[in-house]
Amino acid sequence: MQKSIKITTIGGGSSYTPELLEGFIKRYDELPLRELWLVDVEEGKEKLEIVGNLAKRMFQKAGLPVEVHLTLDRRKALAGADFVTTQFRVGLLDARAKDERIPLKYGVLGQETNGPGGLFKGLRTIPVILDIVKDMKELCPDAWLVNFTNPAGMVTEAVLRYSDHRKVVGLCNVPIGMEMGIAKLLNVEHSRVRIDFAGLNHMVYGLDVYVDGVSEKERVIEFLTNPENSSFVKNVQGQGWEPEFIRALGVLPCPYHNYYYKTREMVEKDIKNAETVGTRAEVVKKLEDDLFELYKDPNLSIKPPQLEKRGGAYYSDAAVRLISSIYNDKCDIQPVNTMNNGSIASIPDDSAVEVSCMITKEGPKPLVMGDLPVSVRGLVQQIKSFERVACEAAVTGDYNLAVLALTINPLVASDTIAKKIVDEMLEAHKEYLPQFF
Ligand code: G6P
Repeated sequence: MQKSIKITTIGGGSSYTPELLEGFIKRYDELPLRELWLVDVEEGKEKLEIVGNLAKRMFQKAGLPVEVHLTLDRRKALAGADFVTTQFRVGLLDARAKDERIPLKYGVLGQETNGPGGLFKGLRTIPVILDIVKDMKELCPDAWLVNFTNPAGMVTEAVLRYSDHRKVVGLCNVPIGMEMGIAKLLNVEHSRVRIDFAGLNHMVYGLDVYVDGVSEKERVIEFLTNPENSSFVKNVQGQGWEPEFIRALGVLPCPYHNYYYKTREMVEKDIKNAETVGTRAEVVKKLEDDLFELYKDPNLSIKPPQLEKRGGAYYSDAAVRLISSIYNDKCDIQPVNTMNNGSIASIPDDSAVEVSCMITKEGPKPLVMGDLPVSVRGLVQQIKSFERVACEAAVTGDYNLAVLALTINPLVASDTIAKKIVDEMLEAHKEYLPQFF
């Protein structure tokens, strides 16, 4: 008989939790979840109650004997867990709104995972994740940590570099979103599409794309010149690539590459949005209010379709198929964030990369991708340097390193501007950055 499973979700009150629940329900036959512990902090208590009650209704409607526990006591929830998933936001959406608005004043991209927003989200998140890992070592040392918290690549890098917990996987919905989007463009089932992913989180490329083993890369590249097809997530509004550029690039960019190859247009659009509809965090706040109103309805016992307006669509598929493949030793191929171990020749072996891996009981085994093409290699390496310096700044609280990280980020054009942004953002996020004060 299969062993029953305990999963602990930190940030359980997140509006995304019903995504995850749907995934557990769909794959219950292969993943016999017995206990789900949803954990949150005091500020998230009300949301935790609402989401927790919806979780109970969802499992009940599905006729599954899953016990749902709601708690603010992280240590109690971690004890004996088999898998720990993390999806928290230090400082909640208000902090994200600051990450997005402050850089715009300096004409720099305001976004939660790239540039200054990504740096500051990392500085706030990394000490907390390292603390969680410390608790895991004591309370559930054999558990896998599956992290969705952004910036997911930087967070995985920090766990690999600053802890000795090796059972960590960083997960993002962008690769699965690309696969699903490309399947739709090619009018084929998702299961027939395979992409060779290589790069970093939110900086990942499709080196090739196959349908039933035959490369369709050239055809897909042509599709990507159409603005309607150039983003596969709801929160990034792609603008269509110049045909000459994308053909010569020779690989498939991810939606977040819009920020790097169309920096000016994306910053202009963000400034305009901030002045009109609000930044993404401000838009998402309203979406969340509506979602929580829906979640409160005692007659609701499924994931409401409105959740698909969020950028994180397909998270459940990505997360639960990963957990199931580890648990069942499926040895299938999935793109995740893990230690490079020689998979991508252009990146240090001990760094976190986002890459197609074989998923086994011992975790992800990255496939060999070789060198990245020269057209993209430099940018990926530069972002890796940014991530590493940012991680070091997060653990040491070293102000100079924070300025260095932002200056070497290609989205920031001057050390003086970097310093001004760091100063203003440190002050704005002071409460969540004790290591700097
Ligand atoms: C994408 C990214 C996620 C991010 C999400 C934001 O899917 O891959 O890392 O968290 O978008 O979506 P939101 O609806 O919160 O803007």
